[in-house]
Formats: sequence, C-alpha cells, structure tokens
Amino acid sequence: MSSISFGSSSAAIGLDIGTDHVRVAQVKPVGAGFELSGYGSVEIPMGAVVEGEIVDVDAVSSAIKELWRRSNVHGKNVAIGVANQKVIVRLIDLPFMERAELEGAIQYQAQDYIPMAVEESILDFQIIGDYMTPGDEHMMEVLLVAAHREMIGNAVAAVEGAGLKLTQIDVSSFAIVRALMGMGQPVLASSDDSAAIGVIHVSSGITNITVVDRGVPRFNRISSLAGNQFTQAIANVLNLTFDEAEALKVQVGLPDVESGVSDVPECVDPSLVQPVQDSLEREVNKFIAEVRRSLDYYLTQTAQVRTIQRILLTGSGAQLKNLAGYLEKGLQARVEVGDPFAFVKPSSAAQQVAIADRYGSVVAIGLAMGGLQS
Ligand SMILES: Nc1ncnc2c1ncn2[C@@H]1O[C@H](COP(=O)(O)OP(=O)(O)OP(=O)(O)O)[C@@H](O)[C@H]1O
Ligand SMILES: [Mg+2]
Repeated sequence: MSSISFGSSSAAIGLDIGTDHVRVAQVKPVGAGFELSGYGSVEIPMGAVVEGEIVDVDAVSSAIKELWRRSNVHGKNVAIGVANQKVIVRLIDLPFMERAELEGAIQYQAQDYIPMAVEESILDFQIIGDYMTPGDEHMMEVLLVAAHREMIGNAVAAVEGAGLKLTQIDVSSFAIVRALMGMGQPVLASSDDSAAIGVIHVSSGITNITVVDRGVPRFNRISSLAGNQFTQAIANVLNLTFDEAEALKVQVGLPDVESGVSDVPECVDPSLVQPVQDSLEREVNKFIAEVRRSLDYYLTQTAQVRTIQRILLTGSGAQLKNLAGYLEKGLQARVEVGDPFAFVKPSSAAQQVAIADRYGSVVAIGLAMGGLQS
C-alpha cells in the first residue's frame, strides 16, 4: 500500500535543463491529489546545452540561479532529468534471480546491451516482472538504464554550482510518462491498459520518443530532429538569421493536412508562406519517418503488440501549427495533445506561468512527481 499524506508540507522540486530553457516545478501532496505550488522558466544562452548535454556548466548554473530568483519555488533539493545520446534505456530479459543477486550480476550483464563502456557508465535498473517461457524457464524483465559518468558529472556540477543539492537523477522520458499518465508502481498507475501508447515530446534540441506498453515505458529513443532543426531548415532555404526563421516558423507553421488551409497572421509577407511551409513539410516528413522507424523497431522486438494506435504529443515544439494532423496521417494513429496538469493541479500562485508554458512544463512536473515518490 502506498501512503498518501494529507496536507503534508513535504514538496519535491523537478529541474528540467533543456537547450532553450531551464524550468522548475515544485509539487506537493494536497488531499488525495497533488498541487503545482511553484513553477518557472528562464532562457539558457545558445550553445550552453547541446542535444541534451550540458556543455557550458557555468552558464547553466547562472541560468538556474536566475530561475530561483524569478520563480516561487522554495527549497534546495532537486531532481533532474537526463535525455541525450549518453543515456540509454533497454528492456532486457534475463534468467530469474533475486534482486540482491541481480545487483551484482548487472555489471557483467550490462555490456551486452549498451553501446558505452560499462566502466564509464553509471548503471541502474528496475525489475519489471518475471515469467515462465513455454520451455519452463523462469525469466525476468529488467529495465536497464546506463548513463555516461562524465555527462552526469556535468549535470551535478551545474546544479551544485547554483547552490542546490541534487537528490535524484531521472530519465526524462520516465518523467514525461509520469506527468501525462500518472505515477504508480513501478512507473505507472494503470498497467491494465493493454494497448501500447507512443509518447512524443518535441522540444528544441531533442525529440524524446517513448513507447508505453502494459503500463511500463519499454522503449526510448532520443532524436536530434526537433524544433531547432525545423527553424534551421527555414533559415537555410530563405537565407535568414535563426531568429528570423524562428519567428516565421511559429507564425506560419504547417497548413491543415487535409484542406491545405493555412492560418497565417496578416503581418507575414505572403511570398514567404509557401517556402516556409515547403521546408517545414520536408523536415516534418523526415521527423515522421524517424518516429515510424522507432515505433516499428519496438514492434519488431515484442510479440505482444502489433500496432501503436494512440500517440500523446507534448513539448514546446508540439505547438507547431498542424503538426498533430501531419503525425496522425503519417503514422496512422490517433494523436492527442498530452495534458501536464492531468495529475497535478496548478495553484493560483503558479497557474499563470505554468499554463502559459503548458507544452514545455511536462518534464519538470514529472521530475517533481518522481521526487515525491522516493
Ligand atoms: N508556437 C510554436 N510553434 C512552433 N514551435 C514552437 C512554438 N513555441 C515553441 N516552439 C519551439 O519549441 C522549441 C523550444 O522548446 P523547449 O523550450 O521546450 O526546448 P528545451 O526544453 O529548452 O530543449 P531540449 O530540446 O533540450 O529539451 C523551439 O524549437 C521552438 O521553436
Ligand atoms: Mg526540454
């Protein structure tokens, strides 16, 4: 039985360090639910975080300090998320053993499953369950997480450099799933939902693709095809600065995939609409192919599901006009926008900022929820 604390003042803080923004969410239990008591977001200088990895530790520390000055969060203990090419999540099948034995064995087993040297990695695992094979072998399913030690070291340094204490490191995709679908054991509340769900979180430097199957995130891939790449494509085609292309991307977006109708404000030069949409369409088609490859890969790895019919879409980049319609058509799946406030209700103090950033807030909220669990 998990316990619920009524009116407890205990709260957890999630800190999401991204390419464009650092975001913070403070969550506390209230009654039978949870409240987002504090929220904030500040911009990070370009180049300080590249494809989910911290490159300039000092710049990130300064941005975090600024975030604490500007948002109504209270406390120094934080949970952060990692999502980049140096953190790997794999679902593996091993002969059944007790947890204590697995703790010793995982060091030796892991190298077969991860493309990084085990000596340079920090390993963690979660036992998902056990089962009997048709040949009567007792097996277990283990979710293995490996993260590059140096990459984690930079994250720790950035947090400590801001005068905070890092109490938990989470995989960002787990946080996304937790925020959108709830938290239970081991990661999700309802494991009886037999249909696999794809979760796509598009931000600026990375897209996080996850498959949740039988209540557990069983697959995760990080792609660098994300918002910045869409912007860069427009900048290249029209020979514009990144900032000019960014503004056009947001204003023009894609047309409606069925009717071809666009929703473009009058201030935009009409001669630019077509080239912007053509380059966005090219990028989005690449994006769809990438997502499809990931989902297909997952489907070839499992005998349990044949298709993924439902997709939850989040992340600031998901606001690209008509992206959901393009994905729906391209992936032949129902695409819904994920709700970061499904399980955590913003307090009146946090409401305004959080709702304005509802697409971008998912990771920070999920990280804070994870911090409450432990
Ligand atoms: N209305 C909009 N239409 C299209 N794209 C948008 C819109 N609003 C924001 N974006 C895009 O979202 C991206 C910014 O996302 P966000 O701030 O969440 O990134 P991040 O979390 O800092 O980075 P990371 O990729 O490292 O997680 C940018 O590419 C931006 O262009
Ligand atoms: Mg992000």
